[in-house]
Amino acid sequence: MQAWDVIVIGAGAAGLMCAAEAGKRGRRVLVLDHGKRIGRKILMSGGGRCNFTNYHVEPGAYLCSNPHFVKSALARYTQWDFIALVDKHGIPYHEKTLGQLFCDDSAQDIVDLLVAECETAGVTIRLRAEILDVDRLGDGFRVATAGDELSCQSLVVATGGLSMPKIGATPFGYRLAEQFGLKVLPTRAGLVPFTLQPEDKQTLEPLSGVSLPVVAESEDGTRFAESLLFTHRGVSGPAVLQVSSYWQAGERVCFELLPAGSLTQAVAESPNQELKTWLSRQLPKRLVEALLARGELTSKPLKQYTAKELAAAERLLAAWPLQPGGTEGYRTAEVTLGGVDTDELSSKTMAAKKVPNLYFIGEVMDVTGWLGGYNFQWAWSSGWVAGQVV
Ligand code: FDA
Repeated sequence: MQAWDVIVIGAGAAGLMCAAEAGKRGRRVLVLDHGKRIGRKILMSGGGRCNFTNYHVEPGAYLCSNPHFVKSALARYTQWDFIALVDKHGIPYHEKTLGQLFCDDSAQDIVDLLVAECETAGVTIRLRAEILDVDRLGDGFRVATAGDELSCQSLVVATGGLSMPKIGATPFGYRLAEQFGLKVLPTRAGLVPFTLQPEDKQTLEPLSGVSLPVVAESEDGTRFAESLLFTHRGVSGPAVLQVSSYWQAGERVCFELLPAGSLTQAVAESPNQELKTWLSRQLPKRLVEALLARGELTSKPLKQYTAKELAAAERLLAAWPLQPGGTEGYRTAEVTLGGVDTDELSSKTMAAKKVPNLYFIGEVMDVTGWLGGYNFQWAWSSGWVAGQVV
């Protein structure tokens, strides 16, 4: 049996960060991944340019059943620490929007950074490693792979979430947590496009390709000012992806198409104009036509609207309601909500409270960030804090 100090399962963002840090402390570290390549999600992230962190990282940008859980790790390894690491490796990057930092060239730069850090720290990475079984062995663990029997003092689970099963996502981490008696909170797709209800398809499908700035609002009042994109399957775009993480089946989402008061002002300024003419100057024409075709608005000269009609139209434009049919699911989701319950873990080290020397880091746990580099920052921060103690 090969003995290691630390075995990390998952050569993704969190696993590699943790492995490099543990290796720097002189620990003999082995990273196992069943995939053919290192960091496959990193490579496809950010449209191939990896949105690796965000200038505005703060705990409020994370969904977790215990909102305080993320504070310690995010404070100990911040976005500035990761930016310093990116600078150390000479990787060119830029801010795209809203504090989101992307590589100028390719996401491969971030994978190369992690591999270089692991190499310097003497970490061994084994790909195509199928893990058959994990058991307790004294205070440590025995890990059986298709080829080897391994043992370790500390076991780190960094197997990520369920999104994109085609590139190797599995529920392995959840099953392992349950095997050791840890609670796993129900999972669902997050940062994911919505599909339409059958009754909306006829009027909204023809809008495919239309995009506009909106404020999307979930039923719990969480709001995101970003763009909405109509697709042939439903609605997407950053505003939708963001709000999808706050959405539960059966709920509505509202989109502020125009700020409240816009229509009232238009009535005062150009009372003879038809609603359709005025609206077509404010919103994409195809959307205006769809709102009329759906009977949500009626066009006539603005001065002919009664106060009640005006208020109703104003309300609709300030909070256009849509009840999604569902989401596109894990096939296209960027992240998984839910996962290993953070009540089971130390927020300082990511160690399982009731199973000594077992750690969970990254997306496998019930921590999900907003769109915009927040999820990678969680992988870096949680991986780094675990790397100091495993
Ligand atoms: P990650 O998924 O990176 O790694 C898990 C590893 O475990 C994988 O290598 C997998 O092969 C391995 N594994 C799984 N099961 C296993 C098993 N049974 N045995 C062995 N190995 C196993 N975030 C962000 O901040 N900015 C962005 O730009 C994007 N963009 C983006 C695009 C797309 C298309 C997706 C799907 C996701 C994003 N994300 C993102 C989210 C981000 O990719 C994600 O949150 C992190 O990769 C999570 O890092 P982890 O290390 O936890 O898991």
